[in-house]
This record gives sequence, structure tokens and C-alpha cells, in this order.
Amino acid sequence: MRIKELLSSREYGSEVTVKGWVRTRRGNKNITFVALNDGSIIHNIQVVIDMSRFDEDLIKLITTGSCIAVTGKLTESPGKEQHVEIHADSIKLYGTADPEVYPLQKKGHTLEFLREIAHLRPRTNTFGAVLRIRHAMSFAVHKYFNDHGFFYLHTPIITGSDAEGAGEMFRVTILDPKNPPLLEDGSVNFAEDFFGRETNLTVSGQLEGELGALALSSIYTFGPTFRAENSNTPRHLAEFWMIEPEMAFYEIEDNMNLAEDFLKYLIRYALENCSADLEFLSGMYDKELIDRLNFVVNNQFERITYTRAVDILQQSAEKFEFPVSWGVDLQTEHERYLVERHFKKPVIVTDYPKEIKAFYMKLNDDGKTVRGMDVLFPKIGEIIGGSQREEELEKLEGRIKALKLPEKELGWYLDTRKFGTAPHSGFGLGFERLLLFVTGMANIRDVIPFPRFPKNADF
Ligand code: 4AD
Ligand code: MG
Repeated sequence: MRIKELLSSREYGSEVTVKGWVRTRRGNKNITFVALNDGSIIHNIQVVIDMSRFDEDLIKLITTGSCIAVTGKLTESPGKEQHVEIHADSIKLYGTADPEVYPLQKKGHTLEFLREIAHLRPRTNTFGAVLRIRHAMSFAVHKYFNDHGFFYLHTPIITGSDAEGAGEMFRVTILDPKNPPLLEDGSVNFAEDFFGRETNLTVSGQLEGELGALALSSIYTFGPTFRAENSNTPRHLAEFWMIEPEMAFYEIEDNMNLAEDFLKYLIRYALENCSADLEFLSGMYDKELIDRLNFVVNNQFERITYTRAVDILQQSAEKFEFPVSWGVDLQTEHERYLVERHFKKPVIVTDYPKEIKAFYMKLNDDGKTVRGMDVLFPKIGEIIGGSQREEELEKLEGRIKALKLPEKELGWYLDTRKFGTAPHSGFGLGFERLLLFVTGMANIRDVIPFPRFPKNADF
């Protein structure tokens, strides 16, 4: 049985078998107590071992980190910490963990140290909690969209397009880096590459998502995305997971409503289904975590334009590292000022200058701003980026020309505007940014099992 079920069982006297990893062992020559965990829940089950019934040499090997199976009687526990414990009748030792070398001894470890042993850190309370919450949030994403009539669309991981036009892509090639085939002008001849063209790992599933939305009405993607940006920050990964809904017949207001409802649903789901893990993380790292989650669920997000945001920032007495003026991109420090100091709640900023946003965003009538929207969260800054899309062919072609994007290669994308175009909108939620918010962890490298960032691709 899984420990989660055992801990809520009241079938005292029944014989059960549990399997898991030893967290601690203590006791004396008459009796030994083992705290056992199998990852099903943050709590351990206590195994009580009557030493007169077991070989002392076996019990000696049951140290922190070892793996055992225990069969015994489920018994009402006299301890304050738990209702039930197991009185062992037989123990099988699957694997030892030499205390001289096993790195996860009982003492607390820094998160930095645990990052270096990411292959073992799932066995800690912290990462057990984070990984269970990560699972619950993935499930909730699919449940939300399924319940709302969205279809899960699998967009490609290997692609020839640069959706964001930011050029931060990882190339995918099988050409020999030492001796690539060359064209007459000395440039690499990608016609000889595997796909017969240049390809890269996707930075976003959006463009293909739009193709799906303009047929199935409402779709979402949920997959890995890759960015070769050299950002060594607690909020950036080179490989992260993104959720991208795309909806035909949605204007920017509908898009904002969906984003707000979706985020609140996910956070409420965590509060209702992950309470033991949230309480643990809150106690360890962030006393205000659960209040903050409840606050976001129970309050309307503020909605302002970029122009208003710039006004507020310019009028504030705050000294920013990056000065603000109309036209500059908002930095995390600005976003957090708006959210944490000025409005004291999540903020959706819309209508950004077209120069600082991607080519596909719908141009407003002023000719200067686009119908983009960023959702800004406390402690995180930008958690969602999205927009209404430019559905008018001429305007979209105009943006592609102005930005010197490869128009010919975007022919398939432009076809949706040629044939049965429709107003549509969508957004991207960074899954790890969501997890940062929900878990209260401070570094994005601690909410994904095996983080990828500049100069690191271990495991
Ligand atoms: O704002 P971004 O770049 O928007 C897009 O990619 C759009 N195509 C989305 C869409 O409209 N369908 O990225 C969206 C979100 C950000 O708000 C952020 O939460 C997350 O993805 N994100 C990252 N998360 C972790 N590490 C990085 N390097 C990230 N870059 C973006
Ligand atoms: Mg963005």
C-alpha cells in the first residue's frame, strides 16, 4: 500500500506491506523506529521494530536513504505525530545507502547544494512537495481546458520558424561542425542537413497553435519550449514548459478574462488539493505563501494600459536601475513595483508600443500600440504574455516587412489570413513561473526536476 493511504486508514490490526526509502532511524537495543517515505505524501509512516525478533546486522543496514519493504500490523500509534504506525513482522532490504557517502543525511541542506545533486533531491521533503504540486498543476491545466471545450494540440518541438522573432534559438542539425558542406559564398549549405533546411528547437507553439484555433476554435498546447537567451536569473530557464491557449473569436478582453479565470482556477486547485505540501513549503520557506495564494484567488486583477503604467512609474519616488520612459520595455523591477507597491495585486498591462512586441500582435487604431497583454504577479513579474493576433493580411504583411522577417517562409501562417481569417487571441503561461508562485520557491531552477540554464545540462 502507498503510505498516503495507510496514514488515513483506521483498519488497526490489519496486515500491510509498504515499500519506501528510509528517512531516519532511531532507537535503542530493544526497539528501533524507522521513518519511511514512498513519495506518495509529505508525511512518513513510522515503522516500529522489536529488536528481539530481528537480526541486528540487518537492522544496522537500514540507514537513511536505504530502501526497504516492511510487512507488519497497522497499529494505532500512541505518538502525537501520527495516528498509525506499523509493527514490523518481516523486513526486506532492497538497497543500502552507506552513511559515509550518501549525501542526504538528516541535516538540512541548502537549495544550492541540492541543485548539484538533482538526481537525489526528489528524495527530500522539499522536492517531493514541489514535484507533487507540479504534477497536480499539470493535471489541473488539462482538466480546466477539457472542461471548457478546448482541444489539446501537439505542436512541433523541431521547427523552422522563430515564433517570437527574437532569434534566441537552439539549432538542430546533424551536419559535422568541423566540416560542414558549404555553398559557394562560404556559408553552410543547410540543404544537405537532415531536414533539408535550417531548423531549431521551438521557442513557442503559438504560430502552429493559431492554425489549430482557426479550425477547432479553441485549442491549447502544453509542452517544452527552448530559449538560448543568456539569462542567468532566478526566473529564466533555457528549457521550460509553456501552456498556450489560442482561441478563435476572442478579442483582447476575452483573452484577459480567460487568463484571469485560468490562473485563479489553478491556484484554487492547488489550495484544495495540495494543502499538506503547501503547508510544509510555507513553514520552511515562506510564511505568507498561503495568504498570498488566497489573496490572488479572491481579488480582481487590475487592468491598465502600458501608457498608464509608464505614468505611474515615472511619478513614483522609486529609484529604478533602468529609467522609465514611453517606449522602453518594462523590466522586472518595474513590473514588481506596479504589483507589489502600487496596486498590491496582480496587474494586466495592455497596449504596448509595437516596437517592443512580436510581429503578430494586432495593431491598434493609433498605429503605435498593439493589443498585447502581460499578466504581472507578485514576486514573479511577468507570468503570462499574450495578445490579440493581427488577423488582417495587409497589416500583418506590413509588420513582417517592417521587421524584415522571412516572409516567404511564413507563407503557411499568412494563408490563415488569406482564407477565412477571423479575430483570435491567445497567451502563453510559463509553467515554471506559475510553480514559483504556487510553491513560494525563490529560484526557477528549484521547480523543475532537471533545470537547463547557461553552462549547465547535467543529468
Ligand atoms: O512572453 P513570451 O515570450 O510569449 C510567447 O512566447 C508567446 N508566443 C505566448 C503566446 O502568446 N502564445 O513567453 C510567455 C511566458 C512568459 O510570460 C513567461 O511566463 C514564460 O513564458 N517564459 C519563461 N519562463 C521561464 N524561462 C524563460 N526563459 C521564459 N521565457 C518566457
Ligand atoms: Mg513576454
